[in-house]
Amino acid sequence: MPFSLDNWIRELSAVKTQPRPYRNAAVAFREAEPRGHEEDGRSQKSEARSQNAEVRARAEKVIETGLNVFKFPAALIPGCDLLTDSGTTTMTMKQWSELLLGDESYGSNEGYFEFKGQVTEAFGPQWQTESPDLENTFIFHQGRAAEHALFSSLGRLLGAPEKRSSDGRPWFVIPSNGHFDTTQANIEANGFEARNLFSAEARSKDASAQFKGNMDLAALKALLTDQGTRDRVPMVYLTITNNTGGGQPVSLENIRKTSELCHAYGVPLLFDACRFAENAWFIRQNESGMRDKSIGQVVRLMFEQVDGFHISLKKDGLVNIGGCLVLGDHGRLVKRYPQLRSFISIHQLTVEGHPTYGGLAGRDLKGVVEGLKTVVRQEYLDYRISQVQWFGARVDEACGADVIVKPVGGHAVYLDMDKFFAGTRVQDDEFPGVSLTGLLLIAGHRLCELGLYAFGHSKEGKEVKPEPRVNNVRAAVPRLTYEAQDLASAAEAIGVLYHNRERIPGVEVVYGQGLPMRHFVSRFRFKST
Ligand code: F0G
Repeated sequence: MPFSLDNWIRELSAVKTQPRPYRNAAVAFREAEPRGHEEDGRSQKSEARSQNAEVRARAEKVIETGLNVFKFPAALIPGCDLLTDSGTTTMTMKQWSELLLGDESYGSNEGYFEFKGQVTEAFGPQWQTESPDLENTFIFHQGRAAEHALFSSLGRLLGAPEKRSSDGRPWFVIPSNGHFDTTQANIEANGFEARNLFSAEARSKDASAQFKGNMDLAALKALLTDQGTRDRVPMVYLTITNNTGGGQPVSLENIRKTSELCHAYGVPLLFDACRFAENAWFIRQNESGMRDKSIGQVVRLMFEQVDGFHISLKKDGLVNIGGCLVLGDHGRLVKRYPQLRSFISIHQLTVEGHPTYGGLAGRDLKGVVEGLKTVVRQEYLDYRISQVQWFGARVDEACGADVIVKPVGGHAVYLDMDKFFAGTRVQDDEFPGVSLTGLLLIAGHRLCELGLYAFGHSKEGKEVKPEPRVNNVRAAVPRLTYEAQDLASAAEAIGVLYHNRERIPGVEVVYGQGLPMRHFVSRFRFKST
């Protein structure tokens, strides 16, 4: 048969491979027992013995570190470290090269101008500073520093810590579709009440709802119109994606309606924009009329609706450190509180650095600029989110049951502890989610409880559960870091524990139950059953 190039082109075009849209150029081997030649000579028995010794060593460390996953040495994790997707990204070569080009001048370095330019490029021209005296883009070392600057400045302006209602609760309420733990802590520490208005779909556990991160608009309207609360809301938040509610996206329609509602009552709306690009991907994918737009265009449509935003650049900035707070010159927040920007500026100068570098080195700023360009690439997001979804499907498969929050969100797979432990004897106040993360660490993978322990608190010795109820263990997938084989092994370990869930004990809290942000510092021990 004569050789036909056209035939080959046709046939090879039909091959359905899906290679990753990036290549790795540098890898690091973990410290491990040397293997190699002697492995061949090892008997299966001694192989098993050494495997057993490794697991035992991890188990001892888990006990020693009080089952607190944050305190477990990362170097001892042979599997997937799914503690967080924050600051754990693998940077691109272009980002690394930008770091080498960093300009470390103290004032107004190159990175500062490039960063401000990229903020405008990514989020829209309305974020350009017009005032010669007042900044509108405040750089910080990470997201919570930006939150602290905003809430402490606003708290001082409004006298929030002193203002209480007759039942002793904070006078001012800051509602959100779902505040993250540090955001909530910063709000509360500055005299405000943080209130979560999760959508009805999120609460119903409806697996078919595409935008479970949405704001509950009826509840928000009630808050903005009821006589008892309408003067008590200084601003409203949308967290994109909704990390507390399962990494779920917020639709453009919901963003627009939230914005309309807030603005009808003169209340500023802000984004907690950590995962803005992932949120935009879901809008483009699942909302009608969006497919003909680029991710960059969707991002601009989203950011047209708000008066300001803060972002931990450790997520969709694709860097290991960084954050910022951006308040539009013409936005309602600046209009409503004209002194706010100078308060924030003083705070920034006192605790972070000069406004032109905030808490970051010049090189960090250059890395962020490149990260913000990469994160909106369609092929990056297609791969990123389909990897997380694939992992979710593997977890379901390994468990042979429906144990995860569905649909799977953008950055993590959330194991629903109410489903996981349904029908077992373990009680809420034994925090089985904490127990599960302890056992998973022994298996070699690190996940994190974001449920009754992380979001609940203890009041006068009594447990107060999060309201609405949230009870998850989160497996957050670092960006551009793991391959299918890695995630499959984590799914397998979760499956083994699920099949033995009857034997998983609860935990006792040994230290820290009454402390704020207790999950970061507490110690636990397995209960004997
Ligand atoms: N807002 C959201 C929605 C977050 O997820 C985080 C951090 C922050 C604010 C604070 O940013 O860490 O830079 O100070 N979330 C991480 C996580 C820690 O694991 O989800 P930060």
